[in-house]
Amino acid sequence: MSDRYAVVGNPVGHSKSPLIHAAFARQTGQDIAYDRLLAPLDAFAVTAKRFFHEGGHGLNVTVPFKPEAWDLVDECEGAALSAEAVNTIKRVGNQLIGYNTDGKGLLADLEHNLGATITGKRVLLMGAGGASYGVLQPLLERKPDLLIVANRTLDKAERLVRHFHQHTAAVPQGVMARPYENLGGQPFDLVVNATSAGLEGVMPPLPENLFAPGAIAYDMVYGIETRFLAFARSRGVRCADGLGMLVEQAAESFFIWRGVRPDTAPVIAQLRCDH
Ligand code: ATR
Repeated sequence: MSDRYAVVGNPVGHSKSPLIHAAFARQTGQDIAYDRLLAPLDAFAVTAKRFFHEGGHGLNVTVPFKPEAWDLVDECEGAALSAEAVNTIKRVGNQLIGYNTDGKGLLADLEHNLGATITGKRVLLMGAGGASYGVLQPLLERKPDLLIVANRTLDKAERLVRHFHQHTAAVPQGVMARPYENLGGQPFDLVVNATSAGLEGVMPPLPENLFAPGAIAYDMVYGIETRFLAFARSRGVRCADGLGMLVEQAAESFFIWRGVRPDTAPVIAQLRCDH
């Protein structure tokens, strides 16, 4: 019988993870079965434990269960420690090990697929929810010259920055929280939208002259042209949506589970073509 994996969430019907992992498995000759698992909102832990009790090998965890997955696992690795959120669980014997591959997925997409450099650059991260917690540490590891976290609710951005000062050994200088209104006059090389505003058809209030020459505008939302990307594109800025990150974080999960690194480029191309 094939080794069993699944993505657990609520809702989960829209998830592209089964398609992506099926493509990785075909490409690498791995014998796996990968399903969608809908957990009731009040029964994530029961659902996940049952999956593993019945022999499941690994889970991807999506909204809204990533913080609960962090509570569930016996041990956390890497970025999951500081993010306090888990998107990948691997069963090793009776132990559940938690990982967070979102940040690595973002970096892989930015650096390998888009050719971006983060070290020494000026970075703006918009949003202070779960998505920002997942990616802040990997961004900091690249040592940007400046990293500003902007959020509608400023104290959440301040809490996020404080959290990483407490949990990360060497947070570089120049990491700070700011309201959107204070962003004028300091152009950024990379602007990452980690808010859910795009899903509501709106965008945070951004000043003109936000982008430095050669900047990249990145929206973690995929499948739609968000207001933020439309704003950036109309100012001649290079844009990317979150599809590449989605595939790259899946590739990292696949590597954790199977020890084999799939080639992401054909899978990203296929998903773009299907859309
Ligand atoms: P996720 O886990 O996807 O990050 P979340 O924890 O609910 O989801 O966080 C959503 C983020 O998008 C928050 O930073 C939120 O800002 P607030 O903290 O002020 O709520 C941000 N967001 C959502 N809608 C927004 C909007 N219309 N304009 C600006 N920011 C928005």
